[in-house]
Amino acid sequence: MLKVALIGFGFMGHMHFENYVRLAAEGMPIQLVAICDLRIEELKKAGAGGNIATDQDVYDLSPYRLYDNIDKMLENEQVDIVDITLPTPLHADLTCHLLERGLHVLCEKPVASHSADAWRMANTAERTGRTLMIGQCLRFWPAYEYLKACVEDGRYGAVTAGYFYRGSGLPSEWFLDGSKSGGCITDMHIHDADMIHWLFGKPDRVSTLARNVIPGSGYDTVSTHYMYEDGKVLNAQADWTLQGDYGFSMTYRVNFEGGNLVFENNVLKVNPNHAPGFIAELSPDMGYYREIKYFLESIIAGKPVSVCMPESAAGTLEIIEAEIRSADHAGSIEKV
Ligand SMILES: NC(=O)c1ccc[n+]([C@@H]2O[C@H](COP(=O)([O-])OP(=O)(O)OC[C@H]3O[C@@H](n4cnc5c(N)ncnc54)[C@H](O)[C@@H]3O)[C@@H](O)[C@H]2O)c1
Repeated sequence: MLKVALIGFGFMGHMHFENYVRLAAEGMPIQLVAICDLRIEELKKAGAGGNIATDQDVYDLSPYRLYDNIDKMLENEQVDIVDITLPTPLHADLTCHLLERGLHVLCEKPVASHSADAWRMANTAERTGRTLMIGQCLRFWPAYEYLKACVEDGRYGAVTAGYFYRGSGLPSEWFLDGSKSGGCITDMHIHDADMIHWLFGKPDRVSTLARNVIPGSGYDTVSTHYMYEDGKVLNAQADWTLQGDYGFSMTYRVNFEGGNLVFENNVLKVNPNHAPGFIAELSPDMGYYREIKYFLESIIAGKPVSVCMPESAAGTLEIIEAEIRSADHAGSIEKV
């Protein structure tokens, strides 16, 4: 039985918690034993917040040992796996510390605040032989897995163009401090940058227009062109300043030589050029569930992970850093 500790019990902590409970109930040989959050007393009675609803607002945490201090938890608990759902600046040092202690780690995206830290995490995982996976959850999101399969098996030919988008209202608390979250460009837009990286490899160059709307929050509205040798026209946009009743949305449209895929309002429509269009049948499970399941199954089987590896997440952060350099110079074309 693998013992798991969860560090961070905010929005993503709640989301991960639900999935550990579900996976254990489904028979996976894991046990969540401890949860740590600075604000655990307050949070155990409160809702999760965030863009995507968790199943419940308030949970019964009586089966778990609760901590408000990470060192205290590590002193008292013998665990195999730690799941980190803390604010981004806390990811790198803690991940390296846990790997050095011989633990496997699942760490939320963005992997770190800077790519140098991300590489330090990847190198520590390599040296210690422990599993480190980064929660770039879109790689496990059914509509994006479908797209990945189409790109890989070439059923509609090569990609000629694509557009990726995500938007939301203003995020809460520390996200609006750009020195902590990196702004929308590093925190939210990174999902689509990572998807483009995952689908097509690193672009040669990028050009980004972005603006800061909320003072101090970094780039919170962003549009990037990704340039590849074959000339495909790829753009990703993100904006976390959509107020009023906007809510949250993520979409894409990808054009292949032989058809196009359009993901909108949680529905994926496939439009082959010379056949009737259809709605793709997708797993109803969220990417978060599929991601955590894959991570745990890999550890149980003693197999290395090949999706969301830290080296790949570090590469995505390098793309974002090139985008920021470009945005700082009014859209200059930057090498990645
Ligand atoms: N994969 C996704 O779709 C997704 C979505 C949202 C957030 N995230 C990422 O997850 C991470 C956390 O985001 P969130 O939305 O859950 O934030 P959050 O603010 O809701 O939760 C963070 C929690 O960490 C706790 N915390 C802070 N410092 C601590 C410390 N030293 N020790 C113990 N607890 C501490 C806070 O009290 C808070 O409860 C971020 O890196 C964010 O980018 C990923």
